[in-house]
Amino acid sequence: MSSRLRIAILGSTGSIGRQALDVASRFPELIEVVALAAGRNAAALGQQASHFNVKHVAIAEPALEAGLASALPDAEVTSGAGAVVELATLPEVDLVLNALVGAAGLRASVATLKTRKRLALANKESLVVGGELVMALATYPNAIIPVDSEHSAIFQCLLGEPAESVSRIWLTASGGPFRGRDRASLASVTVAEALAHPRWTMGPKITIDSSTLMNKGLEAIEARHLFGVGYDTIKIVVHPQSCIHSMVEFADGSVKAHLGATDMRIPIQYALSHPDRWGAPVPPVDFATLGTLDFEEPDYDAFPALTLALEAGRIAGTMPTAMNAANEVAVAAFLSGETGFMDIPRTVEAVMGAHDLQALESIEQVEAVDEWARAKARETL
Ligand SMILES: NC(=O)c1ccc[n+]([C@@H]2O[C@H](COP(=O)([O-])OP(=O)(O)OC[C@H]3O[C@@H](n4cnc5c(N)ncnc54)[C@H](OP(=O)(O)O)[C@@H]3O)[C@@H](O)[C@H]2O)c1
Repeated sequence: MSSRLRIAILGSTGSIGRQALDVASRFPELIEVVALAAGRNAAALGQQASHFNVKHVAIAEPALEAGLASALPDAEVTSGAGAVVELATLPEVDLVLNALVGAAGLRASVATLKTRKRLALANKESLVVGGELVMALATYPNAIIPVDSEHSAIFQCLLGEPAESVSRIWLTASGGPFRGRDRASLASVTVAEALAHPRWTMGPKITIDSSTLMNKGLEAIEARHLFGVGYDTIKIVVHPQSCIHSMVEFADGSVKAHLGATDMRIPIQYALSHPDRWGAPVPPVDFATLGTLDFEEPDYDAFPALTLALEAGRIAGTMPTAMNAANEVAVAAFLSGETGFMDIPRTVEAVMGAHDLQALESIEQVEAVDEWARAKARETL
């Protein structure tokens, strides 16, 4: 039996997936990549699979299966949404990195937890749309290790601390490319401007979510589920340098902050190495030359998507599912040049207003609400 950590990476061709493979290539004695899945980029997936000699490969787009299979004669190649999820359940996988984008990641998170593997969770939308369902399955130690840098930071600040001693979670936000802009001036921003994030290089969907501050709203919902705290305990603060990745304040007034370089390979690696720590991929922060750290309130008027996401989180039930689906459709429409930047919060607000709220019960219900909200969002756009 292999003594290495055997991992499956779902979403291996994306920003998180590629950085995870970089971590794997730096620690071949500790990590064995046994399964990879992606959506449509068969060329990149094929290269990754042959480079890491991966035995199980799944591609969401069925039409790409045959070509991929002939390029990878030694691998078992499957296709379709179900095949991607199946990789999470393979007996030879110890840890699943869910780096899929959007609500499509929910089934993979659930399948991972049902087979009692460790879930390294980048796909925050799993918790946004089905937080109660996912957390109900996370009943064993270290079931979920967050990959999102803020949640990895909070997770690390909480190590060794009793849950009842937490008085506040400070969720830091860079503020995105439009920090300081007023609402009126945001109506005319371009896709290129919205994609120019000042601190992080990420996939297109999360980059747009960062520019609307929707991402911070999604992260507040993610934090509420991961750490079992109420929304009144979560305080969002803009910190443009992104050096502090988040903070936890305790009953006695002590605050623990997690600081480090802005490189996603650090939290990805930690989700694999926990509770151990492996060598850093980048030089550490030099505090002697770092300079000033700034903090400010988010501008809730200029960035209504943040308010809408927090409202959906507080309403709970199926409202976050409807909110998230509307956002995914509106972001895709903005990225393809069909709509303006402020149409994103307008669409989310319209879909939330039309949604017939239900208590959250099942994945099938989440998927039905997701489908309804997508149709409603397209109609609104
Ligand atoms: N990027 C970051 O720095 C960062 C930081 C924190 C959290 N996150 C979270 O991590 C997740 C991934 O973000 P990302 O930036 O890495 O996204 P990304 O670059 O767009 O990559 C998404 C990955 O998912 C695959 N994919 C998309 N739809 C799929 C489907 N239906 N079935 C199977 N595979 C599918 C894509 O495959 P193809 O490209 O082959 O189609 C790609 O491999 C998101 O939830 C995001 O919020 C990202």
